[in-house]
Amino acid sequence: MKKRKRKLKIKKKNFSIFIICLFLITFSIAKGINLIINAKKSPKENPIEPTTEKRVIKLKSTNNKKLQELNNINKKIDYFNDKYINRYLAYKKNHQNLNDKQIVKDVNMNLDQPHYEYKNKAKNLNLETILVNKYNYLEEDYIPKKLEIIDTNYALKNMKLVSYAKEAFENLAKDAKKEKLKIIAMSTYRSYSYQVNLYNRYVKEDGKAAADTYSGRPGHSEHQTGLAVDVFNDIETYTNFEKTKEFDWMQEHAHEYGFILRFPKDKEKETGYQYESWHYRYVGKEIAKYIKDHNISFEEYCATKLKSW
Ligand code: DAL
Ligand code: ZN
Repeated sequence: MKKRKRKLKIKKKNFSIFIICLFLITFSIAKGINLIINAKKSPKENPIEPTTEKRVIKLKSTNNKKLQELNNINKKIDYFNDKYINRYLAYKKNHQNLNDKQIVKDVNMNLDQPHYEYKNKAKNLNLETILVNKYNYLEEDYIPKKLEIIDTNYALKNMKLVSYAKEAFENLAKDAKKEKLKIIAMSTYRSYSYQVNLYNRYVKEDGKAAADTYSGRPGHSEHQTGLAVDVFNDIETYTNFEKTKEFDWMQEHAHEYGFILRFPKDKEKETGYQYESWHYRYVGKEIAKYIKDHNISFEEYCATKLKSW
């Protein structure tokens, strides 16, 4: 009896050992197969390591943020115009180095549009805030009201400006004269047809591209407003006006009479014209002071302060 019991115990023990061995062998084979499969997988198929995964997520969220920013513009900017939202966003995408204020200002000035192709009739006719440039034009028959001839002590013959600008200019030239300076108006109001001849002459002489840098096309010259005046000192040619004492005086005092230097240096992008030291524009004393103090062009003033779009 005892013998049989011992035999049964041994059998049970052997069976347990057999099961454990079977389990170990199966486990080893499974692991081996797994290792072979993984080794065969291409690097692309390998699961992403946690650190790489984090980097990808971060990159994605930065790109999304950038995309969101590009699709957004600060609507709280004083001179933001709802009407131009799509233009602001398109301009922003092409000028990612500019901040939102600059974007809104540039588009308000129409800098996102081609000269002479995108154009509007000038607003504020017969007002000192009228803006005429490569985007804003005057009709062929526009003649400003109250044109008056400037005293020939301060102008060549038959030079006309709108009455209030004429008065302001005479006061300016009179005060300059007290300091032994001669500021003489040599080109003032010009009709549409006069500008046709002038522009065509320049095109013939220099070609269209060059002419466009210094001459307004007919309807686009602010000389037609009766508020613009080209000056010289009666000795030097007008293109040398910058080198004269009269120019220095104008730099200091023109705004006190309501005049601004209309095409300053470094403002070619905004005005569309090269620097002209001789061309002044009447805008009134308050606006002239603001423009001088802030070192901006009339275009920038109109785009940000007048909101005259
Ligand atoms: N010279 C200026 C740009 C004009 O022709 O109006
Ligand atoms: Zn001029």
